[in-house]
Amino acid sequence: MTNSSKTAPQLAVDQSQGNAGLEGVIAAETRLSHVDGMAGRLILRGYDLDAIADWRFEALLALLWQDLAPENLNAAQIQTALGKARQHAFGLLDPLLGMTDRLSQVEALRLLLSALADAQTEAHHVLAVAAVPVFAAAIARRRQGLVPLQPDASLGQAADYLRMLHGKPMPEAMAKALNTYMVTVADHGMNASTFTARVIASTKAGLFSAVIGGLCALKGPLHGGAPGPVLDMLDAIGEAQCIRPWLTDALARGERLMGFGHRIYRVRDPRADVLKAAVANLRDGSGRIRFAETVEAEALALLSEKKPLRPLQTNVEYYTALVLEAVGFPRESFTNVFAAGRMAGWTAHVLEQDRTGRLIRPQSRYIGPAPMASHAAAS
Ligand code: COA
Repeated sequence: MTNSSKTAPQLAVDQSQGNAGLEGVIAAETRLSHVDGMAGRLILRGYDLDAIADWRFEALLALLWQDLAPENLNAAQIQTALGKARQHAFGLLDPLLGMTDRLSQVEALRLLLSALADAQTEAHHVLAVAAVPVFAAAIARRRQGLVPLQPDASLGQAADYLRMLHGKPMPEAMAKALNTYMVTVADHGMNASTFTARVIASTKAGLFSAVIGGLCALKGPLHGGAPGPVLDMLDAIGEAQCIRPWLTDALARGERLMGFGHRIYRVRDPRADVLKAAVANLRDGSGRIRFAETVEAEALALLSEKKPLRPLQTNVEYYTALVLEAVGFPRESFTNVFAAGRMAGWTAHVLEQDRTGRLIRPQSRYIGPAPMASHAAAS
């Protein structure tokens, strides 16, 4: 008798109950953030996103780390600690940076973060957050044939990230826009990368192992890779008179419009509004932002005509693409900039997970063949 002719055993429960994406499953209790998809709200430790979107990134870290990190540092103390930690991270670039040339930028970041030892004594959460912009800026510069630039410990994290990328201090409006982006994406409920980081943290593997796991999950195009295609779409549309025909054709071919729709939000993604406001404060020399706003309006009108029963609204990726392009990041480094913001959430979740002390160990439903005698398997 072959395996396939055996009937499934009793321990295999009805597969129709399967929930491969774990939608609706409560995987952890957290005080850090809550996504209310029906109301279009993102709440971070008791604040709606739009109430704190103009906070400095360091102030948001103070909020997220409060009562979870070994010391309760305020925003100014965190800025000082991050500055020192960026300098420490800069010292780790050589010789590893030279080994990253054949990798994508996010793979290069993964390699550099792997040099951080879980057993070392520094405040790991501070070093993890500080290291990302140092490594990511060095990677992006190397792709342009430029040497890495030393951090300036006196600057805030966003301003220094842009400075290390461009080789000179950038206008305050640009640093502010990047700061808003990093605050906006810092945490977002039990997303795939945060869940990954928490699972690894629950094994006591250590903070760097956990956040590198988070980065590996973020790398996937279904999670952290969408803003690049938004710019590709705007490039492909090209000019104002092509907007409606281009979008109509794309929808007729059954294609998805990049930067619209969301698995959880059934109304507008609150992060899209925050980033739209951030981008409005930047110079729009080429008219790109105005063009994108016209594309957005046409896209929303066409989507509501085509899918009247399915609310499809602008998501975070649409204005992320415009913010990151406007402050000068190349498309290939967008996922690393996302990681620079999300590292705030990953570290806070790892600290929170450490407090529960409980190994995350769910079960699977067995749908393989029923047990058989060993001679049957061998025949
Ligand atoms: N453009 C056109 N149609 C879209 C759409 C989009 N951006 N997003 C969803 N739809 C349509 C689907 O084609 C589907 O139509 P159908 O029922 O006729 O087949 C319907 O809406 C539901 O789609 P579904 O895949 O079930 O929605 P989801 O909630 O699982 O998908 C996304 C969420 C984000 C994956 C999806 O909206 C998408 O692919 N968006 C474009 C990519 C993007 O912006 N990603 C960044 C997300 S932050």
